Amino acid sequence: MSVPVFPATIEVPLHNPRSDRPYTLGRADALEVTPARLTEMVAASNEPAVYGWLWRERLEGQPYPTSKAEEFFGWARAGWRDGTHFVFLILAGEGGDGPLAGALDIKSADLGHDGGEGAEIGYLLRAEHSGAMTPAVLALQTLAQDAGYRSLWARVRPGNERSRRVLERAGFREVGEMDSEGHRCTRHELSLGPG
Ligand SMILES: CC(C)(COP(=O)(O)OP(=O)(O)OC[C@H]1O[C@@H](n2cnc3c(N)ncnc32)[C@H](O)[C@@H]1OP(=O)(O)O)[C@@H](O)C(=O)NCCC(=O)NCCS
Repeated sequence: MSVPVFPATIEVPLHNPRSDRPYTLGRADALEVTPARLTEMVAASNEPAVYGWLWRERLEGQPYPTSKAEEFFGWARAGWRDGTHFVFLILAGEGGDGPLAGALDIKSADLGHDGGEGAEIGYLLRAEHSGAMTPAVLALQTLAQDAGYRSLWARVRPGNERSRRVLERAGFREVGEMDSEGHRCTRHELSLGPG
């Protein structure tokens, strides 16, 4: 069975067309997880859009705590170590050491060959960096294709228009509906061609 193969070092320059500012996409396991990084992750996760779509229900209305951010970075590192899931960070500026703007992930090693469904992606972005996610998802597609993925998919909860528009701009096609955590989500797919 084939497994995804990513470069050991990833530092993809991104351009935010909305703000005209540069960003860098890199592997989450390359980041030194300092208390300042944990604070950034907590702040990102407690922003209204991110909290509302990703955390309000799971945390039953409680704020996203530092322990969750520690868990997130630990989970991200484990994914790269074990080859099970692949988390990337978007850092503001060039060089990969600026403020944390957002995160995105490829949630499995299912390359989409031989009847596999391909891997789900997910993402979050701090509001002040709006405009950086579409270029990040496009860069992720290239990385995924080079790693051997043949298809990617994403789920969108009802009403999450910003997320739906990211997928639309990035070329995903809405293909149907699926139940997820009590919501009837739409399912979006992208074919990457032969891996
Ligand atoms: C989903 C999410 C990442 C989308 O963020 P976003 O800022 O809307 O997405 P982008 O970074 O692609 O920026 C899009 C905006 O940039 C602008 N933009 C895009 N291309 C542009 C261009 N060439 N020139 C100028 N502006 C441009 C547009 O105004 C666009 O906004 P619009 O959708 O109102 O048209 C963000 O809302 C979020 O983190 N939500 C919470 C988490 C979540 O729902 N995740 C998805 C489930 S896994």
